[in-house]
Amino acid sequence: MRGVLLPMHLVREYLAVRKLRPDEGKSDFDRAHDVDTDGEFGGWTYLSDLNIPSSNWIEGHDYRAIEPDRFGGVLTSLGILFDEYTFVDYGSGKGRALLLASEFPFKEIVGLEFSPELHRTAEENIRRYRSPKQRCKNIRSVVVDFTEFDLPRGPLVLLFFDPCRGQVLEQVVSRIERSLMASTSPVYLAYVAPRLETERLLRSSKLLKEHSRNTLFNFVIYQRAGDPRDRNNG
Ligand SMILES: C[S@@+](CC[C@H](N)C(=O)[O-])C[C@H]1O[C@@H](n2cnc3c(N)ncnc32)[C@H](O)[C@@H]1O
Repeated sequence: MRGVLLPMHLVREYLAVRKLRPDEGKSDFDRAHDVDTDGEFGGWTYLSDLNIPSSNWIEGHDYRAIEPDRFGGVLTSLGILFDEYTFVDYGSGKGRALLLASEFPFKEIVGLEFSPELHRTAEENIRRYRSPKQRCKNIRSVVVDFTEFDLPRGPLVLLFFDPCRGQVLEQVVSRIERSLMASTSPVYLAYVAPRLETERLLRSSKLLKEHSRNTLFNFVIYQRAGDPRDRNNG
């Protein structure tokens, strides 16, 4: 009986402590900006606790927000003129990456998230966010399964913070490849915390090639193969 009741008891105690000290365990980012981007349990929000209207949640990865240093590492290694680019976060959750991206002068910032609950929190965070460093206010969170999303036109930075695996990952990559075939704009795909299967899939694409890799923050950046702005091309 104890084995059955103990987990319930621990969760109840955890929630009670959070009520008494709501700031306890909050990330520096959330405290500094008075937003809610942290996951619920030790930094994680489990997809099995959410009502997601897509069967693809089975191959989705739980929510956790990207670390600001890691995010900064990704964007500063691109070497691009941000104001020409739209930033798209695949699996944007509560929107931390969208807020961090808004400190760069992107043309537009778009988050794709299939959990309506996480999306609503992201919208509230976008509304509340204040930072003297903010350079882009054209930010939106879209509630959508990203396998069904058509990429906007023009130069793009696509962020994947390891949001999914298996067939869902294959579907989203082939949708991106279809967009690449239909345009000539520069596209960068940054994959944070890639797994072996992810690397295999992205490397096998004839339309993408590796741009750079960072072992400290564990991310890889791919770019459109044949990007005319790439000095190593031709
Ligand atoms: C590791 S979190 C990334 C959070 C955010 N990108 C960040 O960097 O702070 C992965 C997110 O992907 C979302 N996700 C997974 N599969 C998805 C899909 N097929 N369509 C839309 N969102 C998805 C999950 O709900 C979760 O919020």
